[in-house]
Order: sequence, then structure tokens, then C-alpha cells
Amino acid sequence: DVRPLVAGNWKMNGTRSSLDQIKAISEGVRNELSEKVETLLCPPATLIYVATAICTESPLMIGGQDCHPETHGAHTGDISAEMIADCFGTFVIVGHSERRSDHGESDSLVRSKAEAAHAADLTAIICIGETADERKNGQTLEVLKRQLVGSVPDGATAERTVIAYEPIWAIGTGVTPTVEDIAEAHAFMRRELTDRFGAEGKAMRILYGGSVNPSNAKQLMAVDNVDGALVGGASLKAEDFLAIYRVY
Ligand code: 13P
Repeated sequence: DVRPLVAGNWKMNGTRSSLDQIKAISEGVRNELSEKVETLLCPPATLIYVATAICTESPLMIGGQDCHPETHGAHTGDISAEMIADCFGTFVIVGHSERRSDHGESDSLVRSKAEAAHAADLTAIICIGETADERKNGQTLEVLKRQLVGSVPDGATAERTVIAYEPIWAIGTGVTPTVEDIAEAHAFMRRELTDRFGAEGKAMRILYGGSVNPSNAKQLMAVDNVDGALVGGASLKAEDFLAIYRVY
């Protein structure tokens, strides 16, 4: 059985003054303990170490938002998967569309980042998703296929790999695809993953991300093959994150 994952991506938001929100999320999921769903928060790298210290008594897991493919070395400004693991982080997001566009990350770079995550024993959340133009041109499934083939490493397992489908036009816009469109995309990704990885692909979690909030989460999370959410804006406030958590 696939245990869904509700994951928060804080992006470039959060300072020490936001630690009370992390504490509130951590205590919230601990007080309202559920065996049905896992929870993860990915704060900026500056807060990972203190965040894991806050969460020692809580099921809330902490992860990074990116990692370099190498373990260490002359790469000013980058952090490695090992460094995230060293701070007791257990997950890392790779290939987020904002990394792909801000930093020109290719599928093959994203794949090597996912491999680095696996080598450090982290679970990689590999993000894919089409642009508005690609959707308009009817290329959505073809784009998802190309990104899955290019970004997901051989030998990916359900334990160490999570896919996040984030249509770029749905990120931060308040607009989401219809449940029919999400169902179609997730069923397609499930087929692709099962064809390539067999039972592991069948059990691999496929999250939906893009304008998930407390009002639409129940409907979105109920779609077939949607195994949780990758939440941006609504994960910044403990109240909203916990409301999404309670959908399960
Ligand atoms: P929003 O939830 O703010 O649309 O962001 C989604 C996202 O990019 C999560 O990684």
C-alpha cells in the first residue's frame, strides 16, 4: 500500500522568525498522529539543521530543495546531498521547474542530482511538468514522458524516489488543472513508471503540485494515482499545511 506524502516546499522563503511555523507544523502532526500519511517540509537550506532539531519528537520529516550532483568540492554556493543528510534531512527536491528555469537545469543534470540523493540515502522528489504553451499544443504527455525518461535514474525504487507532477502554469497562480486532466496525467505517469520499474513503479508515489490549498486539497488528493501533494505557498502557514494534512 502506498502511503501518501504531504510535502511543503518553502522555496526562498523563511528566516529564523519562521521557526515558530515549523514548530507548529511539527507539533500539529504529532498531536494529530496519522498512520495514513507522511509529512515533509523543505525549508531553505539555512534552516534545515535547526528544523530537524525542532522535529526530533515529531513524524514531520525535513528535506532540502536542491542538491549538487557531487558530494563536495569547488562549487561555490551549492550544497550536496551529503550535507543535507548530515543535517538529518531525509529528502531532497530535485528538478523543480524554478531550478530548471532559473538555473537552466536539464533532465540529465536532474537525473544526476537524483542519483546523488540516492547515494546519500536521501529520498529524491523529482519534479516534472509542462508549460502553458506545451499544454496548449497538446504536448503534455509527451513532455512528461521525456522528463520521466530523462530525469529519473535507472534503478529508482519506490522507497527512495517520489515523482512530483507540477504543471508550470499551475504554480503560484491559483489555477489548477481539472481533476480529469490530473487523472489523465497521473495515469499516464503510472503506466510509464510501471513499464520501466515494474512493481517499484507501481508503488512509487506521484504527488500533484501547483496551487494546492486547504479548499481544493480534498478534491485533488482524491484523484486516482495522486499519492499526495507538493505544496508551495500554502505550506508557509502551519494552519494551512495542517488543513491539507487533515484531508487524509
Ligand atoms: P504553489 O503551491 O505556491 O503553487 O507552488 C507549488 C510548487 O511549486 C511546489 O513545489
